[in-house]
Amino acid sequence: MESLFETLIEGVLADQFASASSFLSPDLVAGLRANLQSRLQSGNMHPAGIGRAIGHQTDASVRGDLISWLDDHPDDSFEKEFLAAIQKFMDYLNQTCYTGLNAMEFHYAIYGPGSFYLRHKDQFRSDSGRRFSIVTYLNEDWLPIDGGALVLYPENAGPQVYFPEGGRMTFFRSDVVEHEVLPTLRPRMSLTGWLKSV
Ligand code: OGA
Ligand code: MN
Repeated sequence: MESLFETLIEGVLADQFASASSFLSPDLVAGLRANLQSRLQSGNMHPAGIGRAIGHQTDASVRGDLISWLDDHPDDSFEKEFLAAIQKFMDYLNQTCYTGLNAMEFHYAIYGPGSFYLRHKDQFRSDSGRRFSIVTYLNEDWLPIDGGALVLYPENAGPQVYFPEGGRMTFFRSDVVEHEVLPTLRPRMSLTGWLKSV
């Protein structure tokens, strides 16, 4: 695990982004995917907003996903395992880079066919708490013809394209890396969140 953490952290320090194809085990991906699907079936996934608080609004012409937030202390064993892995990664980052991260927030997201998220940055102007973005994918057998790529626009390199393959984790600086989700042709599931200092 530590060499994977090292690779991700070195990537972010050098290039503002990094990605690992098997951050989550296949069992964890399947368990989290089943959780997302049951939240969807029980009507607990809601249109995501853009901006915060007073400026908060939903607009499918900007982003078309449905989301559902993870509890800080979930009962579900897969969510516990996921948050424990992220906590370990955050601790490692703090120990090696003195990043002073002390909070996290994660939500499930599903993009239905035809939906997308236009180019944006994750750090709100009014709230610099979000320091690093982490996107993990819960899909089975994703093919490039399914669309739905995440495209990152780091400041010092050309566009980086990642398909939302199950188990992949993409990690980038929330303050500087613009990115977008291209239209997907099939339901596209993820667990996305932020490491913060609050
Ligand atoms: C986001 C986002 C990227 C993805 O939720 O802010 O940019 O690949 N998601 O789902
Ligand atoms: Mn984003």
